[in-house]
Parts: sequence; structure tokens; C-alpha cells
Amino acid sequence: MSVHRLRPWVLRSKTRSRAALYAGWRIAVLAIAAATFGTGATDLAPAAGAETDAAPVTEDADDKTATEDADAAARGFERLKTQPYSPADFEQALFDSLWQVWPEPLRQQAADASPDQRRRMALSRYGLVADPDNPTGPPLGVVDDGNGGWVMNCLACHQGKVAGHVIPGVGNSHFAFQTLTQDVALARRAAGKGRSGSMGAFVPLGNSNGTTNAQVFSIVLSALRDNDLNVLKTPKFPKFRNHDLDAPPFWNVKRKKNLYIDGFVPKTHRVIMQFALVPTNDAASFKQNEEGFRDILAWIESLEPPAYPWEVDTTLAEAGRVAFEQACADCHGTYGPDGTYPEKRVPIDVVGTDDTRLVGMPPEHRRVYRESWCGECGKIHVVEQPDGYVAPPLDGVWASGPYFHNGSVPTLWHVLHPDQRPAVWLRTEDGYDRQRVGLEVAEFDRLPEDVKSPEDKRRYFNTALKGKSAAGHDFPDELSADEKRAVLEYLKTL
Ligand code: HEC
Ligand code: HEC
Repeated sequence: MSVHRLRPWVLRSKTRSRAALYAGWRIAVLAIAAATFGTGATDLAPAAGAETDAAPVTEDADDKTATEDADAAARGFERLKTQPYSPADFEQALFDSLWQVWPEPLRQQAADASPDQRRRMALSRYGLVADPDNPTGPPLGVVDDGNGGWVMNCLACHQGKVAGHVIPGVGNSHFAFQTLTQDVALARRAAGKGRSGSMGAFVPLGNSNGTTNAQVFSIVLSALRDNDLNVLKTPKFPKFRNHDLDAPPFWNVKRKKNLYIDGFVPKTHRVIMQFALVPTNDAASFKQNEEGFRDILAWIESLEPPAYPWEVDTTLAEAGRVAFEQACADCHGTYGPDGTYPEKRVPIDVVGTDDTRLVGMPPEHRRVYRESWCGECGKIHVVEQPDGYVAPPLDGVWASGPYFHNGSVPTLWHVLHPDQRPAVWLRTEDGYDRQRVGLEVAEFDRLPEDVKSPEDKRRYFNTALKGKSAAGHDFPDELSADEKRAVLEYLKTL
């Protein structure tokens, strides 16, 4: 058996040219609403060189030099790390006191712990990830506003850890957004600060840790505005269905022309500004920050998938490539230097995965989106009634578990064995399953009876809940058992 050398936890070196990375410069990105807990106002810091009157995007990607692209990407990442784009969600002091509202015996354990240990317990409870560059500072996805306020941003959902290692742009598969919101509200009430204007008061933020109700935030927040982003006095909300989604890895964005699992909207930088649509941000602040969001998109598009860090049986993987190219490549494309990606939307009755996301976003909302400033006031092409989900690129797929748009399947082995998928699973914090390639989980037929509290239930992924089915995508059934073993090995190499 031939094996690759054990690879270090570093990002893959750039394999595609910078120019190619930016070929889709104009395209947009979505950002989803990070909920706001706070009521205190913070000024939006205008981006350097920002224009006040936003013009439609007209630049040509090819005019950009590689250095400009790299500079833009570096600025984009710096902004995400340092610039508060909305009012504080909560104060650091409040975060550090949240343990006081935890249930026993956790509260007593926290009381007996050192402040450092207590912070680690809090990060673990809320699925927030310590920043390796600043382990005692705010976690990844949280920016300090300079006044003790903590502001959450894209990276709360879009930067996570895999087997305990932080990987830029991987979805945060630990994020316990609902539990965090719930504890912040409890702590505010205990401190006599009232309930605050929390998003969590309107919609559930996530019923399984690691997934969030992100699509619904975007529907609710954009309904609060007119087309020019002025906050409406009497907003009307389209019908929607609450459901949770798994944040896809950012490194695939550069391979796509359209965003989201149903690919309903083209990539454009304005869309990623949605997360700042909280009513406390006024219309002018968006236009001031537009330039900064081009940089954030540049950073997203500069990301490369991480390489699998353990051994790969290259002979088996090569056999897997052959089987993959026969059974999977039509939809998922091919990989390597001349890789192609068809970006194919597959009808829902063919793919057969959970349809809540598809039917949960009404055409009415998709039209609102197109007509709004974020949708370039009608200039972008929005698919009003997509009939299914787009088969995503599988680059770095070993790292992006759990799988499918609702995060219902814990490992690639389970993707390849549709009839073996667990009804209920519970992950370990940092375990990685190298046999089955994905999250290390315990499996259950149903939710154990002693799991009672809402926050404990959210630690389990329960496929019986609405929007959480792990059914469908039976395509691997055409492979033999040997071919499945080989394809599993091949998937490690993408
Ligand atoms: C509360 C969690 C959350 C926050 C905060 C968030 N996102 Fe997302 N994001 C998601 C989820 C979930 C999806 C998948 C949505 C779908 O496919 O319908 C997504 C999708 C995306 C996509 C599309 C990726 C693809 O492959 O199609 C991009 C790009 C993106 N987000 C960028 C951002 C940016 C930039 C920000 C901050 C400005 C942001 N997001 C904030 C959860 C979040
Ligand atoms: C007919 C098109 C089609 C074929 C053939 C197909 N897939 Fe898929 N695949 C999809 C679609 C669509 C999704 C997204 C489903 C969802 O998220 O609900 C998907 C999702 C996946 C995912 C999850 C990706 C993620 O990031 O969550 C994996 C892994 C995957 N497919 C592997 C395979 C393999 C391996 C094969 C071949 C045995 C295969 N697929 C064949 C359409 C296809």
C-alpha cells in the first residue's frame, strides 16, 4: 500500500492563478444576518476610501493585478477581524458572567474553575472557537468594539475548527447560536437589563448546534427595509418556514457563479452585506461600507481547501477516482489542475434530500431580494422558483462535515451508505473519524429519554425534526462495496 506522507495542518498552496480566482469578481456573496442581541448603538466605522453613493458594480476583474487581489483579500480578512459592522451584540463582561445562568452542576463547576477554564467552558457551550492568534481575546467571529462591546460577524458561522484545528472559511459546525442567545437574554434579565431587541425573540436561531436559521434571518431582515435600505415603520413579512442550515465552506465560493444551496442568486459583493441589515444600521452606513465588503469577498475567494492531514492510500484513491468519475462527476465535476465544475441544479425529487429549505423561501422573498439595493435594484438575475439543489463542489470535503445543506449526515461514509445513516447523532467536541471520514459521533435510534432541556436537545442532531431529514441522495447505491471504499478514499484527496 502506498501512502502519502502525513501532511501538516496548513492550507494547500495556491494551485490556481490569482487572476482565475478573481474571474468572478462581480459576483456576489450572501451574508446572512448575524442576529443582534444588543440595543446599544455603535457607529459603523466607514471603510477607508468608501464611496457614499454606491454605483453598480462595473469593474472588470481582468484589470486587477494579482497584487491588488492579494491586498484586497488581506484587507478583507483584517476588516473581519477588527471592524465592528453592527452594534454590539453583548458586552464582554456579560459574556464572562454567563456561567451564572448555567444549569447545575455546570454552574458549580464554573464557579470552582479559574477564569481561563471558565472561558473555555463558555466557548465550548456556545460552540465559539478561540482565536489562535489571540487566545485570551474575543473568539473567532467576534470583534471588540473598543468599548467593551462584542460584535458578532460572518466568522461566527463561517470559521470553525476541525479535529481541534482552526481552518479558515470552514463552517462553524459547533456554533450553538440559540443557546448563546438564550443565556444572554437570561443574564440580561437577571441583571435587570430587560430582554433586549434580540432576533431570537422573533425566530428560533438554530435547533441543532452547528446549524443556524440563517436563511430566515435574511428574509426577516430584508423585509424590514425599503428597496433603498431605509428602515420601514410598518414592515410586512412574507411567509417563511423556520429551518436550520449548515454553513458551506467558503473555499468553494470561487468555483461558483451562483450562491446558496439552490443557487438562486448570482455572486455579488452587495449581498454579503445582508448580515448588517439590523435596524440600528442606517441606509448610509451600507453605502459607506460597500468597498470594505468587496474586500471581504476577495478574502473569501482567496481561500483554498485544506489538505487531508493523515495518510491516504493512493492506489485505492486512484480506483476511487475512476468510480467517482463514472457515478458522481456528472453532477459534482472533476478535480485536479484541469478540474471542471458544472454547477448543476438537481430537481428535488431526483436528489431527494430534505425539501424544507427549497419550499421555505417563497418566490415573493426572492423578488424582494432582487429589487433591493443588495440585489443591485433589479439588475441581477434571481431565480424565483428553483426546482432543486445545486450539487456543490467537493473540494476539501473531508473537512466540511456534517454533510448536506441541513448538516444531517455526520460522515462521508454515511453519505455513501444511505441506509446506514443515524436517526440521531451526538458529536464529540474535537474527535475526527478517520475510518468514516467526518465527525466522530455516537449514534442513537431516537433521542435518549434523559435528554430534557432545550439546550441539551440541541446538542443532538435529531433527523425526526422538521427540516432535518437525512434521507435522499441515493446515487452511491449504484456503486459496489469495493467501489464505495475506493470513493471514500478518493474523497479525502479533493
Ligand atoms: C448565523 C450564521 C451565518 C452568518 C452570521 C453568516 N452566514 Fe453566510 N451562510 C450561512 C449559511 C447557513 C449559509 C447557507 C445558506 C444556503 O445555502 O441557503 C451561508 C451561505 C453563505 C454564502 C454562500 C456560499 C455558497 O457556497 O453558496 C456566502 C458567500 C456567505 N454565506 C457569506 C457570508 C458573509 C460574508 C457573512 C458576513 C458578512 C456571512 N455569510 C454571515 C450562515 C451564516
Ligand atoms: C444527480 C446528481 C448527483 C449525483 C450523480 C451525485 N450527487 Fe452528490 N450531491 C448532489 C446534490 C444536489 C447534493 C446537495 C444535496 C443537499 O445538500 O441537500 C449533493 C451532495 C453531496 C455531498 C455532500 C456535500 C456537502 O458538502 O454537504 C457529497 C459528499 C456528495 N454529494 C457525494 C457524491 C458522491 C460520492 C457521488 C457519487 C457516488 C454523488 N455525490 C453523486 C447531486 C449529485
